[in-house]
Amino acid sequence: MQKWVRKKISYICSMLNQEDLFKKIISHAKEYGFVFPSSEIYDGLSAVYDYGQLGSELKNNIKNYWWKAMVQYHTNIVGLDSAIFMHPTTWKASGHVDAFNDPMIDNKDSKKRYRADVLVEDYMAKIEAKIDKEVAKAEKRFGDSFDKEQFVSTNPRVTGYKEKISAIGARLYKSMEENDLADIKALIEELEIACPISGSRNWTDVRQFNLMFSTQMGSLSDDANTIYLRPETAQGIFVNYLNVQKTGRMKIPFGIAQIGKAFRNEIVARQFIFRMREFEQMEMQFFVRPGTEMEWYEYWKETRVNWHKSLGIPEENYRLHNHEKLAHYANAAADIEFKFPFGFKELEGIHSRTDFDLSAHEKYSGKKLRYFDPEINESYVPYVVETSIGVDRMFLSVLSYAYTEEKLDDGSERVVMNIPPVIAPVKVAVLPLLKKDGLPEKGREIFDALKVDYMCQYDEKDAIGRRYRRQDAIGTPYCVTIDHQTLEDNTVTIRERDTMKQDRVPVDQVASIIAERIRPQL
Ligand code: GAP
Repeated sequence: MQKWVRKKISYICSMLNQEDLFKKIISHAKEYGFVFPSSEIYDGLSAVYDYGQLGSELKNNIKNYWWKAMVQYHTNIVGLDSAIFMHPTTWKASGHVDAFNDPMIDNKDSKKRYRADVLVEDYMAKIEAKIDKEVAKAEKRFGDSFDKEQFVSTNPRVTGYKEKISAIGARLYKSMEENDLADIKALIEELEIACPISGSRNWTDVRQFNLMFSTQMGSLSDDANTIYLRPETAQGIFVNYLNVQKTGRMKIPFGIAQIGKAFRNEIVARQFIFRMREFEQMEMQFFVRPGTEMEWYEYWKETRVNWHKSLGIPEENYRLHNHEKLAHYANAAADIEFKFPFGFKELEGIHSRTDFDLSAHEKYSGKKLRYFDPEINESYVPYVVETSIGVDRMFLSVLSYAYTEEKLDDGSERVVMNIPPVIAPVKVAVLPLLKKDGLPEKGREIFDALKVDYMCQYDEKDAIGRRYRRQDAIGTPYCVTIDHQTLEDNTVTIRERDTMKQDRVPVDQVASIIAERIRPQL
């Protein structure tokens, strides 16, 4: 666990309604140069975002923290950087051409398109909210003697709601599995679900919508030249698995890690950078001997949960959700979910993908993708355990946790981004107390020494209190202040962002003190 302690003087965040909180996070992200809408001068492009001066730093730090944990710290995992464009047959073999679909439905009055399953799930969430309301009411009524577990299992209204949710869910997922689009429409009609924009129930039929973006390669525009923007980075790893295994002389079990862009033409692209049309993934495929995959699946679930915990974000923000309903290629799957302002949602997936992908590529390419295992003297198609996390989603989880409004003892307020120091965009701000008496010169000298190892900012404008607030708002964990005493005894103060505590230390110890405090706890 990271040693830095998250101490809040007075916490008013919990008083904020979660929707307001989310809006504040989005506007803070824009105001301070973390995230901008893409091509904003043309009114933006739906579900596409640009990362600004601080956002690009935070994003790089997240990626480095992941790469370090996965590649640098494992002797049996190596990296890869495969192309976004791949041979079109790749996507036939992987199943994406035929099955990477979402069921969509249009409202004829508003002309708005929705994911049919999401409409039903939103309906189920509304019933869930009714249960929460009943629980809150009862909690108020019974006070300390309230037994929540007993209440939700016996209260007739709550049990009725629960039965309704499970009946709707069972029917929806059965219809999805059987590709019974007519029944999904029938369900929407029976539940009398209305379009949130027009309020009408004037729906089209449900149709499948492929999520891959396609384009033409070369000058001819016929089907033969259709290629896709990859919807996941994983396939670049699968098709290179033998190249890497042979040239890297890798022995099973081993992994290949990759960070790169992926593209999905999401029907419901909303919630800021949670669901985007262009996003980045950090994926690792771990190749194992068939029959050992469940052991490795458990290992990677635990290892990935520990990676998240190592950032120091409190555990209650995460939960593990084991999938009951599995994709056709998986024999086990789980999500690490994060408590976003709009509820617990998937942050990372860990999937035991069997030999589905490699076997399919063998079949479609006609090339053998086997591994000769000297320990058992046998050749086989390896099984794969995958870990897959979106960089942007991780970014949003960090922002969601970090954004804090505090009321201080002196009655003033501050917005502080409690970004884990190891991934903070700026690690140190160097601040001469005054813009005279030789303090700026000393400040520059310290800045020049620290910038070699850390992303630093130098700031001599405005009163020191305002400068501290500016650094709090962008999540800088340490401020080094140069004052007149510095010129006398070569000491400075280091101010810690979360506690606002200041320590006086010799200048020549600043770099090592900061190094110690931001060392990865992997
Ligand atoms: N190779 C497996 C795979 O792609 P996935 O569950 O579809 O699995 C993995 O995606 C992760 O990628 C998700 O947990 C999420 O963090 C991220 N992700 C998926 N779709 C996304 C989107 N439209 N926008 C942002 N991140 C996305």
